[in-house]
Parts: sequence; C-alpha cells; structure tokens
Amino acid sequence: MNDTLAFIGGGNMARSLIGGLIDNGHPADAILVSEPNAEAATALHDTLGVRVSNDNHAAATQADVLVLAIKPQVLAGVCTEIAEDVRYHRPLVISIAAGIRADSIDGWLGGQTALVRCMPNTPAMVKAGITGLYANPGVSADQRRRAESILRAVGETLWVENEALLDAVTAVSGSGPAYYFFFMEAMIEAGEALGLNRQAASKLTLQTALGAASMAIESDESPATLRRRVTSPGGTTEQAIHGFEAAGLRKIVHDALRAAHDRSVELSAQLGNPENLKK
Ligand SMILES: NC(=O)c1ccc[n+]([C@@H]2O[C@H](COP(=O)([O-])OP(=O)(O)OC[C@H]3O[C@@H](n4cnc5c(N)ncnc54)[C@H](OP(=O)(O)O)[C@@H]3O)[C@@H](O)[C@H]2O)c1
Repeated sequence: MNDTLAFIGGGNMARSLIGGLIDNGHPADAILVSEPNAEAATALHDTLGVRVSNDNHAAATQADVLVLAIKPQVLAGVCTEIAEDVRYHRPLVISIAAGIRADSIDGWLGGQTALVRCMPNTPAMVKAGITGLYANPGVSADQRRRAESILRAVGETLWVENEALLDAVTAVSGSGPAYYFFFMEAMIEAGEALGLNRQAASKLTLQTALGAASMAIESDESPATLRRRVTSPGGTTEQAIHGFEAAGLRKIVHDALRAAHDRSVELSAQLGNPENLKK
C-alpha cells in the first residue's frame, strides 16, 4: 500500500520529483500538492494527474510524508503555519530548501520532528541529479529508506551523517553543474578560436563531457588514472594538461569550492533567522 505523499510548493523541483515518482510507478492519486498559484496547480493536475489543493493544512494533515518544496525565504512562515498539524499527525518531513538547517525547521515546526534535509541539484530535471541527504535523530530506518526512495526518482543519493557536510555537498554537487557549464563554455569558445563553427564546437564539447562522465562512472579506475591513461608522453593531451597545471587550475578549483562552501555556511546562518528574511 502506498502512503500519502504531499508536497508544499509545486514548482520546478516538486514537478521533477513527482514526474520521476510517477514514471517509477508511484500512483498519482496518492500524491497531493499544495500550490497557491491556481494556474500552476491546474497544470500539475492536468499533466501529472496528482491531487492539488491551495491549503497547506490539507497537505500537512493528510501526509505520511510531507515534502517542503518551497523557496527558503518562505519556509519559516509555512512551517509556523502548519506546525500544529505536524505536531498532531507526525509525518516524515523532507525539506529540499537550500541552506536551512534541520534545527531551524524543527524549531519552526514545534520540535521533535522526524526530518530529512536534502540538497538536490538541477540535473534532477533530467533524472541525472544527485542529492545529499541528512536525517535528524527523529528519523527511523524505515523513514530513511522512504526519503531515499523519493529522491532516487530523480537520480542518485548520498547520505551524510554530519549535517555540516551538506555545505560541502552544496559546494561540490549543488553548485557543481554550473562549474561544468562554465568549463563547457570555455571549451566551446576555444574550439571556435581554433576555427570550428559554434555548432560544431558545441557538439564536440557536450558529447565529450557526457562521454568522459559515463566512462568515469562505469570504470573502476579513478578519474586521475583515466586521465593518465589518455595522456601519452609528448602528445597533445599532455600539452593541454601542462597548460592547466601551469595556470594553477587545481588551486583555482580548491579555492572556488572553498568559497562556495563558506558562502553556504554564511547563507545558512542568515536564513535560519526569519528576521533576516524580511530585509
Ligand atoms: N531548482 C533546483 O535545482 C534546486 C536545487 C536544490 C535545492 N532547491 C530547493 O528547492 C526548493 C524549491 O525550488 P524550486 O526551484 O522548485 O522553486 P519554485 O519553482 O519557485 O517552486 C516553489 C513553489 O512554491 C510555491 N509557494 C510559494 N509560497 C508558498 C506557500 N506559502 N505555500 C505553498 N506553496 C508556496 C511557489 O508558488 P509561486 O510561484 O506562486 O510563489 C512555487 O510554485 C527551494 O527551496 C530551493 O532552494 C532547488
């Protein structure tokens, strides 16, 4: 039997998750979405067949699993609004809001919540995402499995046992797609500078990114070993790698991820205080 899964917020992330769940065989009528925008709610009902409502209380009271899929800026208000429903019905709560600590959410919900906090990334939209998950002490083993099965509808999952590591997850995979897009941008421009037209440079770059990622995932070898294998002494690849090393690419990447991590810590401190969200 499927328990009732409710979403508060029916935006991009909720749509991706629900689409993935339904493709995996989750019955659409066991999913309820609370979405204030009537047009968006109707579209969700018409395209995915889920039940929709504009009442967050309905979602919180009917849910066995309640996914908070709203922007961080509105999370405190929504949690306070549904706190009594959650205290009474005790669903597993899953938050996908970037940066808001489990303790803040638990506090807004009135305490003792079974809460899983997640950091998904945008490739979830093409079911190639990866989500970092953290469970607070109130979450049972069964609820962990349930949370994981929901997020696996849009890609891979990885548990962290220490919540602070979600800031590292944010720096690596949360913001990571943009780093690869940036590298692709640079490779396309370089290909054009070497005489290829944009379309050709783009096709070569994107397929190479996909091919390299597929090889690295399928191989038992580390990316470092795979790289060494295709870098023949005196060859063309070696020339490019020397160029990257000489320009300090490794340090640039370390520093960039450290900056993303530190910003994640800073934003979490700000977002955990609703007073800051009003400014
Ligand atoms: N997109 C990503 O790749 C990504 C990655 C990691 C984490 N996240 C997190 O996922 C969460 C959702 O992101 P998203 O991209 O799906 O945002 P989104 O598209 O803006 O979706 C949020 C939805 O919540 C609705 N909403 C606003 N206030 C509400 C309320 N009081 N009660 C119920 N629903 C309300 C919004 O309706 P209106 O449009 O009418 O305001 C909107 O449809 C965010 O917290 C974000 O940090 C997203």
